[in-house]
Formats: sequence, structure tokens, C-alpha cells
Amino acid sequence: MVYIAPSILAADACRLSDEVLKASRSGADFIHCDIMDGHFVPNISFGPHVVAAVKKCSPLPVEAHLMISEPDRYAAAFIDAGADIISVHCETPEKSRKAADLIRNAGRMLGLVVNPPTPFESIQALFDLRPELVLCMTVNPGFGGQEFIHDVLPKIRAVRESLNPTYLSVDGGLNTNTIALAARAGANFIVAGTAVFRAQDPVSAVKELRMAASQA
Ligand code: DX5
Ligand code: ZN
Repeated sequence: MVYIAPSILAADACRLSDEVLKASRSGADFIHCDIMDGHFVPNISFGPHVVAAVKKCSPLPVEAHLMISEPDRYAAAFIDAGADIISVHCETPEKSRKAADLIRNAGRMLGLVVNPPTPFESIQALFDLRPELVLCMTVNPGFGGQEFIHDVLPKIRAVRESLNPTYLSVDGGLNTNTIALAARAGANFIVAGTAVFRAQDPVSAVKELRMAASQA
């Protein structure tokens, strides 16, 4: 089973509810919300109120991907907003540990994220947190529409072989070509922004992504 999670960073912000509804009806499994603070990454996106709005207008579970320097300070706000999975970065280990406690106490799923240059060992060092999801970034975080970084593939394989999380996610530059590479390496949770929201028809885009992954 491959899970598809459209990232609303690539959605038309003028018509967000329509875009979320379209993605929800496209056969996707989760909605991915990219939270950026302009400090951990060189971009600012949106906050918990948008996650709450997405929860209101979509029946799909929502992942909040926290690309922020203080995940411990803001985790509660994303819990209150209703996020089903809250994904925090291994690059801020102590703050992500504290955030993980809050996420667990609220009964939500935990995601651990690593950037392309961050080694596999950084996930291992936090794996005692028992995350449901491990996300291997396949672009340097901050923007949609970037090229897939193939050098991440061995790390994806190592995560599948040694840690084997329920959800092994990849995020950034996924399309019908790169999804097969990621799936072959062991990914089963595909975040896609541009490939879905900039497609002529998101419904067929999600179908094509799923098809491409199943042929891996
Ligand atoms: C980048 C975000 C990704 C991005 C994916 O920092 O974490 O989720 O929005 O966008 P695409 O699929 O367009 O690369
Ligand atoms: Zn993301």
C-alpha cells in the first residue's frame, strides 16, 4: 500500500478550500501541511489556523510538517488545530524530543524528519520515540517545485531495512518518475505538492502517482 499526501504549499491560496476538497476527492490518503517559520527554513508559510481550516474542510487525516526552530513551543497549537500526524525535525533533537512528549500525550502520531545532508544516525538517535512515520526529505526544505535529490535513496533504503517504520515518507520533487525510485528504496508515504496541485487534473495526477509507485 502506498499512501499519497498532497502538500497544500503548492495549492492556489486564493481557493484553498476548493483545492483541499479536490485533493480529498482525488483518492489521496492524507493532506500534508508545510509549516515554515522563516528561521529553520528560508521561507514563511502558514500556521495552526490553516491546519484547523484544512481539518474542517477535508475528511482526510492531516500531517503538520513542522519546519520550525521551536517545535516544542508550538506543538500544542498544532495538536489543538487537530493535526493527526505532527512531524518534527531531527536537526533540533532536544526540542523535537520535548515536542514528541506533547504529541504522544495528546494521542497523535509522531513523524521524525531528516534533511538530505543529515545522516541516518540522526534518526536512529531519536528512534526510541517510536515514530509512526519517518520522513526522508528529498529536497532541501523551504520551497515546493524543486528537483528530487537522488543521493537520499540509500538513506531511504537504510531506514526501511533497519528501522522499518509504519510510514516511510519522502517529500520534495516527487512525480511519476521519481516516485518509482523512492518506492523501490522502501518509501510507502509520498508527499507531492507540484505534481498534484499544478496538474491539469489532481484526480488523475494522484492515480498516476499511485500507478507509478505500484510499478516500482
Ligand atoms: C518543502 C516541503 C515539501 C514541498 C513538496 O520544504 O516540505 O512538502 O512542499 O513540494 P513538491 O512536491 O512541489 O516538491
Ligand atoms: Zn513537507
